[in-house]
Amino acid sequence: MGNSSVRKALFAGAVFLPLAACNQPQVSQNQSGAPTTQTAEARQAPAGGHPLGANPAEDEYGEFLARAEELATVPVNDIIKSTRLNAGALVAGKKVYAEHCASCHGEDLKGSKAAHAPDLTDGDWRFSGDDFPSGGVNKLPSDVEWTVRYGVRSGNPNARGVEADMLAFDPQYRNQHDLDDYGRVKTVTPEEINDLAEYVLQLTGQRADAAKAAHGKELFLDNAKGNCFDCHQEDAAGNPALGSTNLTRKDLFLYGSDKASIVESITKGRRGVMPDFGTKLKPEELKAVSVYVFSQAAPQPPLQAANQ
Ligand code: HEC
Ligand code: HEC
Repeated sequence: MGNSSVRKALFAGAVFLPLAACNQPQVSQNQSGAPTTQTAEARQAPAGGHPLGANPAEDEYGEFLARAEELATVPVNDIIKSTRLNAGALVAGKKVYAEHCASCHGEDLKGSKAAHAPDLTDGDWRFSGDDFPSGGVNKLPSDVEWTVRYGVRSGNPNARGVEADMLAFDPQYRNQHDLDDYGRVKTVTPEEINDLAEYVLQLTGQRADAAKAAHGKELFLDNAKGNCFDCHQEDAAGNPALGSTNLTRKDLFLYGSDKASIVESITKGRRGVMPDFGTKLKPEELKAVSVYVFSQAAPQPPLQAANQ
């Protein structure tokens, strides 16, 4: 993983170190180790399991539906392997979501532009990649659980997004974190930021000035200038180890994909924050909401033999 000092060196143009971990395979994401085509509804009342309605009766708890307390000690990736634990997590998790998450991510989990909170149903996890056998290709409930437990740039030492954020390319807007990493080094002029923004427009399929976008692409890939690829990958599809936005899909932008918003993102930087819930929720609530949120995301195509 490239650390800050490595990035600083890259910015100074002093050395070029291939950052292996940052270039981990970027892939179509899928939801679990096993290829799945199940819908969220099917998972609520899975084949072979006892059919459950949206509001299960009290006597269904136990044999068919785990009580929330039971989830406290079971790893989330194991909860989804059990019909009754999974069903219990979905019922409990939905309630936790409504109470603690909907205010920012929306009642329908589709995110909120005002809160800059991502859509949780798109299956494109900005922060993920812990599955060792697939090299991070397969997405797991534990990817979500870590984000919820520790938050994003929340101040918790285990938070997501601490290592890298979208620095301000105009040094006057840098926060302390970025001043510590990059000082006041200025690597791009306002015209170059404009060309970079044209390239980002082009990446998203929006109308762009071809000549400026071509120059922007050079800057994007230049480790002493834009150095954007270091965090967003060469193909600009984002790096789930860093939580950097996939710049090829405008529906995934948290701060706007129009020209002015892109220029502002590059000039002033962005530093999205989500609170940590590790101490605010009971252990079973934390697990239940992680399983619930994970289950609501669009199942992705089965794993494309990433290790072959
Ligand atoms: C105060 C607003 C706020 C609340 C409350 C909140 N979130 Fe978030 N959440 C955010 C923001 C903002 C981000 C994106 C941070 C960034 O990357 O810039 C985020 C990111 C996430 C992500 C990462 C998504 C991805 O693509 O990897 C998950 C998962 C998530 N939130 C789940 C939850 C859950 C579950 C709850 C409730 C327990 C919750 N959030 C409560 C604001 C919030
Ligand atoms: C040190 C890592 C890093 C570098 C270098 C970097 N970015 Fe980012 N970028 C991020 C992260 C992380 C985010 C997500 C910020 C957030 O969620 O608050 C982001 C977000 C963005 C956004 C906002 C997208 C949205 O969600 O609305 C744009 C646009 C962007 N980057 C473009 C660029 C360009 C162009 C460059 C090069 C000039 C660049 N980035 C360099 C890490 C980086």
